[in-house]
Order: sequence, then structure tokens, then C-alpha cells
Amino acid sequence: MPAPLNLWVNGDPVQLFVREDETLLDVLRDRLALTGTKRGCGEGQCGHCTVLLNGKAVNSCLTLAVEAEGGQVLTIEGLARGEALHPVQKAFVEAGAIQCGYCTPGMVMTVYALLRENPHPSEEEVREGIKGVMCRCTGYYKIMEAVALAASAPEAT
Ligand code: FES
Ligand code: FES
Repeated sequence: MPAPLNLWVNGDPVQLFVREDETLLDVLRDRLALTGTKRGCGEGQCGHCTVLLNGKAVNSCLTLAVEAEGGQVLTIEGLARGEALHPVQKAFVEAGAIQCGYCTPGMVMTVYALLRENPHPSEEEVREGIKGVMCRCTGYYKIMEAVALAASAPEAT
């Protein structure tokens, strides 16, 4: 039996009917066409589906849509400020931390959440913070550089 769902996505109100087993990832990608959030493993292992729910980074593939009732969701589409990239996105571009790009939305959202909680993390804290997001391409060095660059930018959070 579909249940009503009311939430805010990137600042916009959303009202839908969802199945009990429908995930937040399903809703974002398949109902709202917000395909920036990637579907990787679908079981909480890769972090590619990371979005913020009420300010916390979550794996949207493991979050039932009904759990987001009344919540504030931020996806990669909501991070840029108008035409301007968010400082975390800009840092990834400038550091060359993007290769195939599949992990990038989840990685950027994870870094954004990390820097909101801890604006100047140590290298160890960055490693710990991003360990839930798998990148098969970069070897993580450029990503570490991007985080350091973002952390040094004003208004990165
Ligand atoms: S798709 Fe969600 S953790 Fe992999
Ligand atoms: S850039 Fe390809 S998986 Fe990270």
C-alpha cells in the first residue's frame, strides 16, 4: 500500500506516494530524475549514493524513503550555488581528483558533510571520513589533495 511522503529536496518541497520498500535512492533517481546521485552496489558498501539527510551523510540505498519523511535532503544537484560550483566541487576539479567520475558525487557530498562537522580535519580524519566511499580510479591521493584545498577555501561549508 503506497504511503504519502513529504520531504524537502535541495530546498524544494516534494510530495509523493511511495512503496514501503522504496529507498531514498529510488525516489531521487527514478521519481525525481536527480541522477547525480549514483547507484553502485545498492547494499551500503560503496558510498556512491551518499546524500545528506537532515545534515548527515547517509547511504541513500540503505535509507527507506519513508524514513526521510519530513526531512531535508541535499543531493549533489543542490550543492552548486547557482552557476558557480561549490568550493568542494571546485577543489575536486582543481586538484584533478576526478577520473571516471562515478564516485565523485558521493565523495563530494561526503567531504562536504565532513568539513561541515570538522572544517580543518587532519589527514587521518580525512582518511577516516572518506573511507566509506570507494574510488577505483584515483588512488585517493588527488582526493586527499582536493579535501585539503577545500578545507583552505573560505565558505567551503
Ligand atoms: S549504492 Fe549505496 S552504498 Fe553502494
Ligand atoms: S573517479 Fe572513478 S571511481 Fe572515483
